[in-house]
Amino acid sequence: MAKKIVVIPGDGIGKEITDAAVAVLKKADEKFGLGLSYEYHDAGGTAYDKFGTPLPEETLAAAKASDGVLFGAVGGDKWDSVEPSLRPEKAILGLRKGLGLYANLRPVKVADTLVDYSPLKPELVRGVDLVIVRELIGGIYFGDRCESEQHEGVERAWDLENYSVPEVERIARLAFETAKLRRGKVTSVDKSNVLATSRLWRRTVTKVAEGYPDVALDHLYVDNCAMQLAVKPAQFDVICTGNLFGDILSDEAAVIGGSIGLMPSASIGEATSLFEPIHGSAPDIAGKGIANPIGTILSAAMLLRYSLREEAAARAIEAACDKALADGFRTPDLWQEGFRKADTEQMTRAIVERV
Ligand code: NAD
Ligand code: IPM
Ligand code: MN
Repeated sequence: MAKKIVVIPGDGIGKEITDAAVAVLKKADEKFGLGLSYEYHDAGGTAYDKFGTPLPEETLAAAKASDGVLFGAVGGDKWDSVEPSLRPEKAILGLRKGLGLYANLRPVKVADTLVDYSPLKPELVRGVDLVIVRELIGGIYFGDRCESEQHEGVERAWDLENYSVPEVERIARLAFETAKLRRGKVTSVDKSNVLATSRLWRRTVTKVAEGYPDVALDHLYVDNCAMQLAVKPAQFDVICTGNLFGDILSDEAAVIGGSIGLMPSASIGEATSLFEPIHGSAPDIAGKGIANPIGTILSAAMLLRYSLREEAAARAIEAACDKALADGFRTPDLWQEGFRKADTEQMTRAIVERV
Protein backbone atom coordinates (compact mmCIF):
# COMPACT_ATOMS: atom_id res chain seq x y z
CA MET A 1 0.00 0.00 0.00
CA ALA A 2 1.23 3.50 -0.83
CA LYS A 3 2.64 5.45 2.08
CA LYS A 4 0.91 8.80 2.27
CA ILE A 5 3.02 11.85 2.99
CA VAL A 6 1.14 15.05 3.70
CA VAL A 7 3.17 18.03 2.50
CA ILE A 8 2.44 21.41 4.07
CA PRO A 9 4.59 24.07 2.36
CA GLY A 10 3.23 27.03 4.37
CA ASP A 11 4.58 30.54 3.74
CA GLY A 12 7.71 32.37 2.57
CA ILE A 13 10.42 29.95 1.48
CA GLY A 14 8.15 27.04 2.50
CA LYS A 15 7.19 26.15 -1.06
CA GLU A 16 10.76 26.33 -2.39
CA ILE A 17 12.20 24.08 0.30
CA THR A 18 9.40 21.49 0.36
CA ASP A 19 9.56 21.25 -3.47
CA ALA A 20 13.26 20.50 -3.05
CA ALA A 21 12.66 17.83 -0.40
CA VAL A 22 9.92 16.15 -2.46
CA ALA A 23 12.25 16.02 -5.48
CA VAL A 24 14.82 14.21 -3.34
CA LEU A 25 12.19 11.87 -1.87
CA LYS A 26 11.02 10.98 -5.38
CA LYS A 27 14.56 10.07 -6.36
CA ALA A 28 14.96 7.94 -3.21
CA ASP A 29 11.63 6.28 -4.00
CA GLU A 30 12.87 5.38 -7.51
CA LYS A 31 15.97 3.85 -6.06
CA PHE A 32 14.59 2.10 -2.99
CA GLY A 33 11.00 1.34 -4.08
CA LEU A 34 9.42 3.17 -1.14
CA GLY A 35 5.92 3.50 -2.64
CA LEU A 36 5.37 7.11 -1.51
CA SER A 37 2.38 9.27 -2.42
CA TYR A 38 1.95 12.98 -1.72
CA GLU A 39 -0.98 15.10 -0.68
CA TYR A 40 -0.60 18.89 -0.39
CA HIS A 41 -2.38 21.05 2.19
CA ASP A 42 -2.45 24.70 3.18
CA ALA A 43 -1.41 26.18 6.50
CA GLY A 44 -0.14 29.45 7.93
CA GLY A 45 -0.70 32.89 6.47
CA THR A 46 -1.44 31.34 3.08
CA ALA A 47 -4.34 29.40 4.60
CA TYR A 48 -5.48 32.44 6.56
CA ASP A 49 -5.72 34.45 3.33
CA LYS A 50 -7.72 31.69 1.60
CA PHE A 51 -9.90 30.38 4.41
CA GLY A 52 -9.65 32.86 7.28
CA THR A 53 -7.86 30.36 9.50
CA PRO A 54 -4.17 29.39 9.69
CA LEU A 55 -4.97 25.71 10.26
CA PRO A 56 -7.99 24.50 8.27
CA GLU A 57 -9.65 21.42 9.79
CA GLU A 58 -9.00 19.41 6.67
CA THR A 59 -5.25 20.06 6.95
CA LEU A 60 -5.18 18.71 10.49
CA ALA A 61 -7.39 15.75 9.54
CA ALA A 62 -5.18 14.91 6.55
CA ALA A 63 -2.07 15.17 8.71
CA LYS A 64 -3.60 12.78 11.27
CA ALA A 65 -4.47 10.27 8.55
CA SER A 66 -0.99 10.36 6.96
CA ASP A 67 2.07 8.19 7.42
CA GLY A 68 4.18 11.31 8.00
CA VAL A 69 3.99 15.07 7.57
CA LEU A 70 6.60 17.18 5.78
CA PHE A 71 6.27 20.80 6.90
CA GLY A 72 7.99 23.87 5.41
CA ALA A 73 7.55 27.02 7.49
CA VAL A 74 4.90 29.58 8.36
CA GLY A 75 4.80 33.26 9.19
CA GLY A 76 5.68 36.61 7.74
CA ASP A 77 5.40 40.36 8.32
CA LYS A 78 2.24 40.46 6.26
CA TRP A 79 0.34 38.78 9.08
CA ASP A 80 2.02 40.48 12.04
CA SER A 81 -1.08 42.44 12.92
CA VAL A 82 -3.71 39.70 12.61
CA GLU A 83 -5.44 38.69 15.80
CA PRO A 84 -3.05 36.54 17.92
CA SER A 85 -5.25 33.43 17.77
CA LEU A 86 -5.19 33.57 13.95
CA ARG A 87 -1.47 34.22 13.45
CA PRO A 88 0.28 31.91 10.95
CA GLU A 89 2.40 30.43 13.77
CA LYS A 90 -0.82 29.00 15.23
CA ALA A 91 -0.75 26.52 12.35
CA ILE A 92 2.41 24.78 13.49
CA LEU A 93 1.44 25.08 17.16
CA GLY A 94 -1.99 23.59 16.34
CA LEU A 95 -0.44 20.73 14.36
CA ARG A 96 1.94 19.95 17.21
CA LYS A 97 -0.88 19.92 19.74
CA GLY A 98 -3.40 18.24 17.44
CA LEU A 99 -1.03 15.43 16.52
CA GLY A 100 0.33 15.12 20.07
CA LEU A 101 3.91 15.80 18.92
CA TYR A 102 5.42 15.84 22.39
CA ALA A 103 9.10 15.70 21.42
CA ASN A 104 11.13 17.65 18.92
CA LEU A 105 14.51 16.14 18.03
CA ARG A 106 16.97 18.68 16.67
CA PRO A 107 20.30 17.12 15.74
CA VAL A 108 23.38 19.27 15.23
CA LYS A 109 26.25 17.50 13.58
CA VAL A 110 29.05 19.43 11.95
CA ALA A 111 30.30 17.93 8.70
CA ASP A 112 34.09 18.18 8.34
CA THR A 113 33.57 20.08 5.08
CA LEU A 114 31.69 22.81 6.95
CA VAL A 115 33.94 23.30 9.95
CA ASP A 116 35.32 26.51 8.47
CA TYR A 117 31.87 28.06 8.06
CA SER A 118 31.08 28.09 11.72
CA PRO A 119 31.36 31.44 13.48
CA LEU A 120 33.18 29.44 16.18
CA LYS A 121 36.85 28.43 15.89
CA PRO A 122 37.37 25.16 13.96
CA GLU A 123 38.97 23.44 16.94
CA LEU A 124 35.81 24.05 18.99
CA VAL A 125 33.46 22.87 16.29
CA ARG A 126 35.21 19.75 15.05
CA GLY A 127 33.41 16.65 16.27
CA VAL A 128 30.25 18.38 17.47
CA ASP A 129 27.46 15.81 17.38
CA LEU A 130 24.56 16.61 19.68
CA VAL A 131 20.80 16.39 19.66
CA ILE A 132 18.39 18.69 21.42
CA VAL A 133 15.32 16.87 22.73
CA ARG A 134 12.82 19.67 23.14
CA GLU A 135 9.45 19.24 24.88
CA LEU A 136 6.98 20.50 22.29
CA ILE A 137 3.38 20.64 23.52
CA GLY A 138 3.64 22.04 27.02
CA GLY A 139 5.27 24.78 29.05
CA ILE A 140 4.75 28.47 28.53
CA TYR A 141 3.78 27.95 24.86
CA PHE A 142 0.53 26.28 25.83
CA GLY A 143 -0.28 27.75 29.25
CA ASP A 144 -3.01 30.30 29.89
CA ARG A 145 -2.23 33.79 28.68
CA CYS A 146 -3.68 37.24 28.76
CA GLU A 147 -2.99 39.67 25.93
CA SER A 148 -3.94 42.72 27.94
CA GLU A 149 -5.58 43.59 31.23
CA GLN A 150 -5.67 46.48 33.66
CA HIS A 151 -3.87 45.73 36.90
CA GLU A 152 -3.30 48.31 39.64
CA GLY A 153 -3.93 51.06 37.15
CA VAL A 154 -1.56 49.90 34.41
CA GLU A 155 -1.88 47.62 31.39
CA ARG A 156 -0.15 44.27 31.63
CA ALA A 157 -0.03 40.93 29.82
CA TRP A 158 0.95 37.49 31.08
CA ASP A 159 1.83 33.96 29.96
CA LEU A 160 1.68 31.06 32.36
CA GLU A 161 4.19 28.23 32.41
CA ASN A 162 3.18 24.86 33.77
CA TYR A 163 4.62 21.36 33.53
CA SER A 164 3.17 18.19 34.99
CA VAL A 165 5.18 15.18 36.16
CA PRO A 166 3.89 12.87 33.38
CA GLU A 167 4.78 15.45 30.72
CA VAL A 168 8.35 15.66 32.01
CA GLU A 169 8.63 11.89 32.49
CA ARG A 170 7.62 11.29 28.87
CA ILE A 171 10.17 13.65 27.35
CA ALA A 172 12.89 12.53 29.79
CA ARG A 173 12.36 8.87 28.86
CA LEU A 174 12.77 9.73 25.20
CA ALA A 175 15.96 11.66 25.96
CA PHE A 176 17.43 8.70 27.88
CA GLU A 177 16.39 6.24 25.16
CA THR A 178 18.02 8.52 22.58
CA ALA A 179 21.22 8.76 24.65
CA LYS A 180 21.40 4.95 24.99
CA LEU A 181 21.75 4.71 21.21
CA ARG A 182 24.40 7.46 21.19
CA ARG A 183 27.20 8.33 23.61
CA GLY A 184 25.14 7.74 26.77
CA LYS A 185 24.97 11.26 28.20
CA VAL A 186 21.97 13.47 28.95
CA THR A 187 22.26 17.12 29.95
CA SER A 188 18.98 18.35 31.37
CA VAL A 189 18.59 22.11 31.03
CA ASP A 190 16.37 24.21 33.28
CA LYS A 191 16.23 27.37 35.36
CA SER A 192 15.62 25.68 38.71
CA ASN A 193 17.41 28.41 40.62
CA VAL A 194 14.37 30.60 39.89
CA LEU A 195 11.39 28.72 38.45
CA ALA A 196 9.07 26.23 40.18
CA THR A 197 8.39 24.44 36.88
CA SER A 198 12.13 23.95 36.51
CA ARG A 199 12.45 22.50 40.01
CA LEU A 200 9.73 19.96 39.19
CA TRP A 201 11.50 19.33 35.88
CA ARG A 202 14.84 18.62 37.59
CA ARG A 203 13.30 16.37 40.27
CA THR A 204 11.41 14.39 37.67
CA VAL A 205 14.31 13.94 35.25
CA THR A 206 16.52 12.82 38.16
CA LYS A 207 13.91 10.19 39.10
CA VAL A 208 13.56 8.94 35.53
CA ALA A 209 17.36 8.62 35.34
CA GLU A 210 17.24 5.85 37.98
CA GLY A 211 15.80 3.59 35.28
CA TYR A 212 18.79 4.27 33.02
CA PRO A 213 21.90 3.35 35.05
CA ASP A 214 24.05 3.22 31.91
CA VAL A 215 23.27 6.82 30.92
CA ALA A 216 25.10 9.69 32.66
CA LEU A 217 22.93 12.64 33.66
CA ASP A 218 24.00 16.17 34.46
CA HIS A 219 22.03 19.38 34.90
CA LEU A 220 22.76 22.87 33.62
CA TYR A 221 20.97 26.14 34.09
CA VAL A 222 19.81 27.47 30.74
CA ASP A 223 21.94 30.61 30.88
CA ASN A 224 25.08 28.56 31.46
CA CYS A 225 24.03 26.10 28.74
CA ALA A 226 23.74 28.98 26.27
CA MET A 227 27.31 29.92 27.14
CA GLN A 228 28.63 26.33 27.06
CA LEU A 229 27.24 25.87 23.54
CA ALA A 230 29.54 28.65 22.41
CA VAL A 231 32.51 27.73 24.61
CA LYS A 232 32.66 23.94 24.34
CA PRO A 233 29.84 22.53 22.18
CA ALA A 234 31.51 19.12 21.75
CA GLN A 235 30.78 18.31 25.43
CA PHE A 236 27.10 17.68 24.65
CA ASP A 237 25.45 14.44 23.57
CA VAL A 238 21.71 14.78 24.36
CA ILE A 239 20.30 18.05 25.67
CA CYS A 240 16.84 17.60 27.18
CA THR A 241 14.84 20.73 27.86
CA GLY A 242 11.47 22.45 27.88
CA ASN A 243 9.64 24.11 25.04
CA LEU A 244 10.88 27.70 25.29
CA PHE A 245 14.47 26.94 26.28
CA GLY A 246 14.64 24.32 23.51
CA ASP A 247 13.44 26.84 20.93
CA ILE A 248 16.10 29.36 21.84
CA LEU A 249 19.00 26.95 22.38
CA SER A 250 18.34 25.18 19.09
CA ASP A 251 18.72 28.34 16.99
CA GLU A 252 21.96 29.01 18.86
CA ALA A 253 23.20 25.44 18.37
CA ALA A 254 22.24 25.59 14.69
CA VAL A 255 24.80 28.24 13.81
CA ILE A 256 27.59 26.03 15.17
CA GLY A 257 27.11 24.06 11.96
CA GLY A 258 27.44 27.15 9.79
CA SER A 259 23.84 27.94 8.83
CA ILE A 260 20.39 27.50 10.28
CA GLY A 261 19.37 26.45 6.76
CA LEU A 262 21.08 23.08 7.29
CA MET A 263 19.21 21.98 10.36
CA PRO A 264 16.39 19.41 10.32
CA SER A 265 14.01 18.28 13.01
CA ALA A 266 11.60 15.48 13.82
CA SER A 267 8.53 16.13 15.93
CA ILE A 268 7.57 12.79 17.37
CA GLY A 269 4.01 11.82 18.28
CA GLU A 270 2.35 8.67 19.55
CA ALA A 271 0.87 8.10 16.07
CA THR A 272 1.84 10.33 13.13
CA SER A 273 5.02 12.42 13.33
CA LEU A 274 5.95 15.68 11.59
CA PHE A 275 9.25 16.73 10.07
CA GLU A 276 10.37 20.31 9.54
CA PRO A 277 13.53 22.38 9.31
CA ILE A 278 14.18 24.38 12.47
CA HIS A 279 14.26 27.71 10.66
CA GLY A 280 11.30 29.89 9.74
CA SER A 281 9.81 31.26 6.55
CA ALA A 282 12.79 33.59 5.94
CA PRO A 283 10.75 36.48 4.51
CA ASP A 284 13.97 38.35 3.63
CA ILE A 285 14.90 35.77 0.96
CA ALA A 286 11.46 34.31 0.09
CA GLY A 287 10.69 34.04 -3.63
CA LYS A 288 14.32 34.57 -4.65
CA GLY A 289 15.01 30.86 -5.13
CA ILE A 290 18.15 30.99 -2.97
CA ALA A 291 17.05 29.32 0.26
CA ASN A 292 19.18 26.47 1.50
CA PRO A 293 17.00 23.36 1.08
CA ILE A 294 19.23 21.02 3.09
CA GLY A 295 17.43 21.42 6.45
CA THR A 296 14.18 20.34 4.81
CA ILE A 297 15.81 17.57 2.78
CA LEU A 298 17.40 16.18 5.96
CA SER A 299 13.97 16.46 7.64
CA ALA A 300 12.59 14.28 4.84
CA ALA A 301 15.36 11.79 5.59
CA MET A 302 14.26 11.78 9.23
CA LEU A 303 10.70 11.09 8.03
CA LEU A 304 11.94 8.02 6.19
CA ARG A 305 13.88 6.89 9.26
CA TYR A 306 11.37 7.52 12.06
CA SER A 307 7.98 7.19 10.36
CA LEU A 308 8.61 4.71 7.58
CA ARG A 309 11.56 2.73 9.03
CA GLU A 310 13.43 3.13 5.73
CA GLU A 311 16.92 3.50 7.20
CA ALA A 312 18.84 2.76 4.00
CA ALA A 313 16.96 5.43 2.04
CA ALA A 314 17.38 7.94 4.90
CA ARG A 315 21.12 7.32 4.95
CA ALA A 316 21.36 7.65 1.18
CA ILE A 317 19.77 11.12 1.38
CA GLU A 318 22.05 12.19 4.23
CA ALA A 319 25.10 10.94 2.34
CA ALA A 320 23.95 12.76 -0.81
CA CYS A 321 23.73 16.05 1.12
CA ASP A 322 27.22 15.52 2.57
CA LYS A 323 28.56 14.69 -0.88
CA ALA A 324 27.02 17.74 -2.54
CA LEU A 325 28.67 19.91 0.12
CA ALA A 326 31.96 18.03 -0.18
CA ASP A 327 31.81 18.58 -3.94
CA GLY A 328 31.70 22.31 -3.29
CA PHE A 329 28.05 23.24 -3.86
CA ARG A 330 26.98 26.14 -1.62
CA THR A 331 23.78 28.16 -1.39
CA PRO A 332 24.41 31.87 -0.65
CA ASP A 333 24.06 31.44 3.14
CA LEU A 334 27.27 29.34 3.01
CA TRP A 335 29.01 30.50 -0.14
CA GLN A 336 32.63 31.66 -0.07
CA GLU A 337 35.20 32.36 -2.79
CA GLY A 338 36.40 29.16 -4.44
CA PHE A 339 33.11 27.24 -4.10
CA ARG A 340 30.29 26.48 -6.54
CA LYS A 341 27.48 28.95 -6.14
CA ALA A 342 24.14 27.16 -6.20
CA ASP A 343 20.58 28.39 -5.92
CA THR A 344 17.89 26.22 -4.34
CA GLU A 345 17.22 24.31 -7.56
CA GLN A 346 20.87 23.74 -8.39
CA MET A 347 21.60 22.51 -4.87
CA THR A 348 18.58 20.22 -5.04
CA ARG A 349 19.69 18.82 -8.38
CA ALA A 350 23.20 18.22 -7.02
CA ILE A 351 21.69 16.24 -4.12
CA VAL A 352 19.21 14.32 -6.31
CA GLU A 353 22.08 13.25 -8.59
CA ARG A 354 24.01 11.96 -5.57
CA VAL A 355 21.23 9.90 -3.94
P1 NAD B 1 13.91 32.66 10.12
O1 NAD B 1 14.45 31.34 10.58
O2 NAD B 1 12.81 32.62 9.14
O3 NAD B 1 15.11 33.52 9.52
C1 NAD B 1 16.24 33.91 10.27
C2 NAD B 1 17.41 34.20 9.33
O4 NAD B 1 17.90 32.97 8.80
C3 NAD B 1 17.02 35.06 8.12
O5 NAD B 1 18.09 35.90 7.79
C4 NAD B 1 16.82 34.03 7.01
O6 NAD B 1 17.05 34.52 5.71
C5 NAD B 1 17.83 32.97 7.39
N1 NAD B 1 17.38 31.65 6.94
C6 NAD B 1 16.39 30.90 7.49
N2 NAD B 1 16.22 29.78 6.79
C7 NAD B 1 17.11 29.80 5.77
C8 NAD B 1 17.42 28.91 4.70
N3 NAD B 1 16.76 27.74 4.53
N4 NAD B 1 18.40 29.25 3.83
C9 NAD B 1 19.07 30.41 4.00
N5 NAD B 1 18.84 31.29 4.98
C10 NAD B 1 17.86 30.99 5.87
O7 NAD B 1 13.48 33.43 11.45
P2 NAD B 1 12.71 34.84 11.62
O8 NAD B 1 13.16 35.80 10.59
O9 NAD B 1 12.86 35.16 13.04
O10 NAD B 1 11.19 34.49 11.39
C11 NAD B 1 10.49 34.70 10.16
C12 NAD B 1 9.08 34.13 10.28
O11 NAD B 1 9.15 32.71 10.39
C13 NAD B 1 8.32 34.63 11.52
O12 NAD B 1 7.00 34.83 11.15
C14 NAD B 1 8.44 33.45 12.49
O13 NAD B 1 7.39 33.38 13.42
C15 NAD B 1 8.40 32.29 11.54
N6 NAD B 1 9.01 31.05 12.03
C16 NAD B 1 8.38 29.91 11.67
C17 NAD B 1 8.91 28.68 12.01
C18 NAD B 1 8.17 27.45 11.61
O14 NAD B 1 7.29 27.52 10.77
N7 NAD B 1 8.47 26.31 12.16
C19 NAD B 1 10.13 28.63 12.69
C20 NAD B 1 10.78 29.83 13.03
C21 NAD B 1 10.21 31.04 12.69
C1 IPM C 1 10.32 26.78 15.80
C2 IPM C 1 9.58 28.09 15.68
C3 IPM C 1 8.21 28.00 16.33
C4 IPM C 1 8.44 27.78 17.82
C5 IPM C 1 7.27 29.21 16.11
C6 IPM C 1 7.10 29.52 14.67
C7 IPM C 1 5.93 28.96 16.73
O1 IPM C 1 10.34 29.14 16.18
O2 IPM C 1 9.78 25.76 15.33
O3 IPM C 1 11.42 26.76 16.32
O4 IPM C 1 8.63 28.75 18.57
O5 IPM C 1 8.40 26.63 18.22
MN1 MN D 1 12.38 28.55 16.71
